[in-house]
Amino acid sequence: MAKFKLNVNGSDVEVEASPDMPLLWVLRDKLKLTGTKYGCGIAQCGACTVHVDGVALRSCVLPVSAVSGAVTTIEGLAGDGGLHPLQSAWMEHDVPQCGYCQSGQIMSAAALLASKPRPTDEDIDQAMAGNYCRCGTYIRIRAAIHSAASFYNADAGTMQGGASE
Ligand code: FES
Ligand code: FES
Repeated sequence: MAKFKLNVNGSDVEVEASPDMPLLWVLRDKLKLTGTKYGCGIAQCGACTVHVDGVALRSCVLPVSAVSGAVTTIEGLAGDGGLHPLQSAWMEHDVPQCGYCQSGQIMSAAALLASKPRPTDEDIDQAMAGNYCRCGTYIRIRAAIHSAASFYNADAGTMQGGASE
């Protein structure tokens, strides 16, 4: 066991964990941030996607000892306690079915929009290819990303009505 200092959703935290403990379990078990889900544990499904310094990563295969930047989870995506435009768009399009994959989907979509404010269908399909949805909500996911993109202020590099990423 060792102590690790992390910044999670804007707050500095210290956790005691085995160095090889995946970030996913630090978030879920130590910090009680259970919005990030366990699907496969082998970086294949995307359910555990979080951001580290704005980059979408699979937290199930990222040892806590290797985390070197600010972590953002679905709980902190909006930044101000409100809704990120993607979360609003997800509701508008009634995207989730069982919901299990959806926090990972939104985190990947947020990283996409941060780098590409006006993605094409191909951009979306490529960026989201590593996020599986057993319920097959892909069409609604794509529509919701396009809706959220309309909130993106490309000039300012920020999301209107939500936090920038
Ligand atoms: S649980 Fe991490 S990619 Fe599936
Ligand atoms: S909504 Fe059920 S797995 Fe995606």
